[in-house]
Amino acid sequence: MNADPAPPLLRVEGVTLQYRTNAELVTATWRVDVEARRGERVVLLGPSGCGKSTLLKCVGGFIAPVEGRVTLNGHPVTRPGPDRMMVFQEFDQLLPWKTVRGNIEFPLRQARRDLADATVRERAQRLIDKVGLARFADHYPHHLSGGMKQRVAIARAMAMEPDILLMDEPFASLDALTRRRSRRRWRRQSARLPVPPATSIGCARACST
Ligand SMILES: Nc1ncnc2c1ncn2[C@@H]1O[C@H](COP(=O)(O)OP(=O)(O)OP(=O)(O)O)[C@@H](O)[C@H]1O
Ligand SMILES: [Mg+2]
Repeated sequence: MNADPAPPLLRVEGVTLQYRTNAELVTATWRVDVEARRGERVVLLGPSGCGKSTLLKCVGGFIAPVEGRVTLNGHPVTRPGPDRMMVFQEFDQLLPWKTVRGNIEFPLRQARRDLADATVRERAQRLIDKVGLARFADHYPHHLSGGMKQRVAIARAMAMEPDILLMDEPFASLDALTRRRSRRRWRRQSARLPVPPATSIGCARACST
């Protein structure tokens, strides 16, 4: 007889999310259920405006459901936390006055004051290498392409070793050719990432190569 599978790390149960503007009430998701187990990759697929980003923001703890609940490891998600790192659609998420290395090390030092400086530096370097930016480690964001900036944002998020990595179409704001190259490159590189197998949830408007 098979043992029961591990319980889901993330449970989204009957989640309705709304925005209230001056003019109207927008229902972005209605009673959505999603489950993700440790190490799984889940993709939210749907047309523009169907609520993918809103759902990710809710899992990230930035928006509260008006109905239903979200739990991580059995605990209700009520606010953002380092156990859920998010990479946004826009590619200007980096600190412009910090280098690639600084953008990865600085938030890690702030969030994990228990880590020795050598550990922070070693972890940042490992991720810089893995996302293929070794030659650009000491460059500032304005010297990088959009796809390179997004890879820094992904490396920064992975450096936190979160339980869940939330990726909101991180390459969507690039031109079509760069987007295809960046996705392909990321797929190749992510398979080799030496970090614990974080669950990842991503968004897409369409299946693509
Ligand atoms: N800050 C906001 N205020 C009011 N309405 C919003 C806000 N953000 C999103 N919405 C609305 O919520 C709905 C879902 O938006 P959301 O950004 O989650 O869609 P999406 O599936 O991520 O779309 P896309 O594929 O274009 O990124 C849309 O109708 C959108 O207009
Ligand atoms: Mg979106």
